[in-house]
Amino acid sequence: MKEIRGNIKEVKGVLRVPSDKSITHRAFIFGGLAKGITLVKEPLRSADTLATLGILKELGVHIEEEGNAIKIEGKNFNLEEPLNVLDAQNSGTTARLMMGVLATQSFFSVITGDSSLRRRPMLRVVEPLRSMGASLDGRQGGKFLPVSVRGGNLKGIDFFNEKSSAQVKSAVLIAGLRAEGQTLVKEKVKSRDHTERMFKAFGVDVEVSESDLYEVKVKGGQDLKGTEVFCPADPSSASFFCALCVLSPEGDLRLSNVLVNPTRDRFFKKLREMGAEIYYENPREISGEPVADIVVRGGSSLRGVEVLPEEVPSLIDEIPILAVVMATAEGVSTVRGAKELRVKESDRIKAIVENLRSMGVKVEEFEDGFQIEGPSKLRGATVKTYSDHRIAMAFTVAGLVADGKTIIDDPECVRISYPNFFKDLEKIAFF
Ligand code: S3P
Repeated sequence: MKEIRGNIKEVKGVLRVPSDKSITHRAFIFGGLAKGITLVKEPLRSADTLATLGILKELGVHIEEEGNAIKIEGKNFNLEEPLNVLDAQNSGTTARLMMGVLATQSFFSVITGDSSLRRRPMLRVVEPLRSMGASLDGRQGGKFLPVSVRGGNLKGIDFFNEKSSAQVKSAVLIAGLRAEGQTLVKEKVKSRDHTERMFKAFGVDVEVSESDLYEVKVKGGQDLKGTEVFCPADPSSASFFCALCVLSPEGDLRLSNVLVNPTRDRFFKKLREMGAEIYYENPREISGEPVADIVVRGGSSLRGVEVLPEEVPSLIDEIPILAVVMATAEGVSTVRGAKELRVKESDRIKAIVENLRSMGVKVEEFEDGFQIEGPSKLRGATVKTYSDHRIAMAFTVAGLVADGKTIIDDPECVRISYPNFFKDLEKIAFF
């Protein structure tokens, strides 16, 4: 339990939040599969990314710390049959991308996770990998972890990624590197494209086209070539501080080196649409990804805003904190087409609606989203995190701007993506 003091007065300073989780997972995995050495610079060291490293070690990959970098000796897809059940812990990205990796291997393996991950849907990855020729089985026919995999002898597929899930796209593309012929993934709404970008950095020939559909194509039989990857700051982690600054009576904050890939940065754009003062400075490209410093000013009056279904993938992980901002804005705000939130680390729609209501906000719940009637002056309350890191961080921000005190029931869950979240808050938040 953690008690949060409300009515924050000022947010001020410069902060480099931890590195991007999606990019770190991919850099570790591609490094493990590559030919030669990969140096992952400034990786995120959190429970989720350490789960990925742990599994790579079980598969025989040699990993060494080198200052602020991690050095990986790639196995060129010749992984070793693991002695133990592989544990993805709380990390959906680890479980789903690793299934793509294991599908390329002819040995037997089993992957599982903690009680939250064992409730999350896996058929979305199991089915396309089966159609490529891998044998996968699991609880309820492969719907849930633990899942067993025996792969090898894959053939390329033409796959429509219905849910615009980057985890599914990435698993299929990884398997596609070791499949016969070509693998094509199509999406109606483009999901985060770090796999495609990083494949290029590892020397893979990837064809991308964007017209009515977004399409990515890889030919089988290609190697990944070890390289250096720099990990920028995570926009999802930055979003909590950005929101806190926007909601503070006085705020002047610089978030440095943040990933501003257009498949990830819609939260900042939405806040701008609501009337917040947010600027990108020093835009540059690092390791094939767009990066900028984000400058935020507090005290603006905000208006309600709508999030459309096609906008959801580019702010999916920021919806809990966006909901907190929406609660303070003048007028009605809605989020639709976000059913995927029900199968994240917790049922995030339920967690958002319940916690906002306990803070005095008028919210209506839909199967695929919610509607908020603002503005509300938030009231301190006891927040149920459901052990979900993003719910814990979003409602800590809510507690800091609320009247009275707020209790966070499981603050330790921030270790999933941001182990020093509370310490970083102390650096920039003033009462
Ligand atoms: C991720 C993709 C998203 C996102 C998750 C990380 C990734 O999930 O919510 O936090 O790194 O590929 P989906 O692929 O399920 O949409």
